[in-house]
Amino acid sequence: MCGIIGYIGSNVASQILTEGLKRLEYRGYDSVGIAVLDNSSLEIRKDIGMVDEVSTALQFTNVNGHIGLGHTRWATHGSVCRENSHPHFDSSKKIVAAHNGVIENFSKLRDDLLSKGHKFVSDTDSELIPHLIEEHAKDSNLLKAFIKSVLEIQGSYAIVALSSADSEERLFLARKNSPLIIGVGQGEMFCASDISAMLKHTKTFVPLEEGDIAILTKTGYKVYSVDGSEVQRKQITVDWNEDIAQKGGYSHFMLKEIHDQKHFINESLATDVTEAKKLIGEYEKIHVLGCGTSYHAGLILAHLLPDKNIHAFIASDYPFVAKPDEKTLIIAISQSGETADILQALRFAKNSSKIAITNTVESTITRICDITVYLNSGPEIGVAATKTFTSQLAVIFKLAREKPVGLSAIIEKMIEKENEIKAIAAKLAGSEHAFFLARGLNVPIANEGSLKFKEITYIHSEAYPGGELKHGTLSLITDGTPIIALAPKDETVIKLLGNIKEAKARGGLIISLTNDDNVKEESDFVIGLPDIEVSLYPFALIVPLQLLAYHVSVLRGINPDRPRNLAKSVTVE
Ligand code: M6R
Repeated sequence: MCGIIGYIGSNVASQILTEGLKRLEYRGYDSVGIAVLDNSSLEIRKDIGMVDEVSTALQFTNVNGHIGLGHTRWATHGSVCRENSHPHFDSSKKIVAAHNGVIENFSKLRDDLLSKGHKFVSDTDSELIPHLIEEHAKDSNLLKAFIKSVLEIQGSYAIVALSSADSEERLFLARKNSPLIIGVGQGEMFCASDISAMLKHTKTFVPLEEGDIAILTKTGYKVYSVDGSEVQRKQITVDWNEDIAQKGGYSHFMLKEIHDQKHFINESLATDVTEAKKLIGEYEKIHVLGCGTSYHAGLILAHLLPDKNIHAFIASDYPFVAKPDEKTLIIAISQSGETADILQALRFAKNSSKIAITNTVESTITRICDITVYLNSGPEIGVAATKTFTSQLAVIFKLAREKPVGLSAIIEKMIEKENEIKAIAAKLAGSEHAFFLARGLNVPIANEGSLKFKEITYIHSEAYPGGELKHGTLSLITDGTPIIALAPKDETVIKLLGNIKEAKARGGLIISLTNDDNVKEESDFVIGLPDIEVSLYPFALIVPLQLLAYHVSVLRGINPDRPRNLAKSVTVE
């Protein structure tokens, strides 16, 4: 939630910040702003809207100066309006800060500051950060004032701050439960919520750890622990090409990422699962945790290990429904590795061994878990998870069974059907509801197809095991209601055919993903499936569902990369 960026060097800060914010926009896109220091003049430009629109209207790149910070917001505290957008000033307008996270003791801190004469112009919790620094700077140097301020804050934060009253040019950084990574350049330094925002400038990074405080100067960085003592942090180098974080000729990141699946699936299959597999072998009781798409991958994992006492949980609910102990192995699935719901669930399971499955190098989840299995999918920018879901499936199959073969070809075959899928999308674009039906191993794929569909088309959709239809939902099926049936020729198809007939008899418009002749006969539209090894059907099914959601979204005039109210990385509970 929220993207944060900082720059210090010899180049024009506003240009670097604006470019970086475009890369970070997937994290939140309610409003955007930058603050740049030019000699002693500290200027903020910010407003509601997307990065392109606001940065053009307010001429971000005309601001001079070589040190600055920027922010793209996903509102948590206070409505979407200019005043609530970041960065925020202190009372003297000499200190600015941008914040990602939630300050839990906000009311107390704000009341204290109000009693000391500070005036606030926004409803955000974040605005108190520059004021806190200002207050502590009355009797401390700036670094000490920053550390004291950070120590007072309870909750989650990634903070970047700077002051025009500083004796040297420095950026002040802090992180706890929200990602913040330093980018190491030659005579310039960067920081951002995500590596992709800095990839154009450097491939060397220092991910900050929980509770770290850091300062950046033009020529280097220092990291401190909360007691003010300097600490060393690991530098990492990534070999990602900047192109991965570009659209590469596709109209949207989501479409590119769907097409990219045929390549990245091989990278994911090459991931090392040896240690994780060994640990799974040692445990009988396994809890799989995830949210949204990652939860659906977790459901598949639970299906693939039927001999274990294994259960998949929605991470946000986990503390209310489970009792993990030292005999429980936790497998936590999270693309970002920063989802607050999953991190709190992992902290709840304090006595259990833990495996993380994530796409994000050095993310918080990797620090909490004992073993990490990486997805190696490259950065995923579209808010809707696509290639990382297929990667999760590939890794899960490798963990639970043998390494699956032929996946890239299966995915490619399904992508070739894009034009047919686009034509079907045109039939669905005016619908108000859609229902996804499947049985057995295909049910989590129906869940995922339905989530993708509602997330980016704003059409209400639900997914069911086919047998559930007659227990209530059938009353919603009337003339023309779209029924998307996942009906590969496997052990589920005969029973699902019965459910398809029930829906058709009530007027349902049947769109089937199938290679079964009987299902084809009952269908209004068919997306053909190849005849493949039955356990691999999830890989063939998910691709057309992603494409269907994508094309319906575009036909409805929605930007599938930035669906309303959502953000890529959900760092609040
Ligand atoms: O980064 P994570 O895998 O932990 O994210 C979990 C969900 O927020 C995420 O999968 C979300 O459901 C996607 N936007 C769905 O496309």
